[in-house]
Amino acid sequence: MKRRKILKLSSGAIIALPACSAKKDQLTPSVANAIPASSNVAASTQPVKVGANTQYRPPAYVNQGLRNPNMNLPSQFSGKTVSHSRGLSTNPYVAMTFDDGPHPQNTPRLLDMLRARNIKATFYVIGGNVDRYPHIVRRIVAEGHEIGNHTYTHRKLTSLGDSEVSKEMRRTEDAIVRAAGVKPRTMRPPYGALLTRQRNNIFSNFNYPTILWSVDPNDWKRPGASVVTSRILKGAHNGAIILAHDLHAPTVDAMPKTFDGLLSRGFQFITVSQLLAQKGQA
Ligand code: NI
Repeated sequence: MKRRKILKLSSGAIIALPACSAKKDQLTPSVANAIPASSNVAASTQPVKVGANTQYRPPAYVNQGLRNPNMNLPSQFSGKTVSHSRGLSTNPYVAMTFDDGPHPQNTPRLLDMLRARNIKATFYVIGGNVDRYPHIVRRIVAEGHEIGNHTYTHRKLTSLGDSEVSKEMRRTEDAIVRAAGVKPRTMRPPYGALLTRQRNNIFSNFNYPTILWSVDPNDWKRPGASVVTSRILKGAHNGAIILAHDLHAPTVDAMPKTFDGLLSRGFQFITVSQLLAQKGQA
């Protein structure tokens, strides 16, 4: 979000479409996740009801810490709300969001951390970076994460005309489709800055709700990994949309303790679209 520099655009290299596009939400809950109450689950992990009569607990993996269960929640949302800063779910779900990537070192490192815990996140990518590092976008999608549109040049949209805003959205959407074969479904404005009229236009023209956040650790100011972790853990709530930036190495450094801290408090990680698709969401 709060990136200072504007990236130079990459050369207009032609990128072949991937042979397949891994689709989210086709993950089937594994039998291994439905472990009985008597099994060796960390005491801090409370069972969470998912669906009518189904109880899930994060499975215990020896020497691997807590992990998110393989959640098979729908991600189709159809509300008419143009802007969201949190989900309305009363379930202990949080959506981790990472802005301004992909970054050639930090994003793969973060993806490893997410994969180790079976956590799904949402990446608000900058179109210029997508064209630079399309293979990382492919990996993000292949590993079940969601991609959101964070403009092509990361300029403040409130100072742009309507046609320029549309161009930012379109170029980024095209870059994501070229890189990974999927269309983003939500957008986040750089610096959180977007006029109401612009939000309505983007919703009408691109079908993107504007996604802001409810938890902001100010990680872009680089306060140190432990501070980032404690701010997120302190601010987390049911339905939280948590802002972070995979552009910054110290933010990624903070994530193992952040993820494990949230998991130990009973939170489960879902994508922004899954959060919006929760019952009760406008
Ligand atoms: Ni940004």
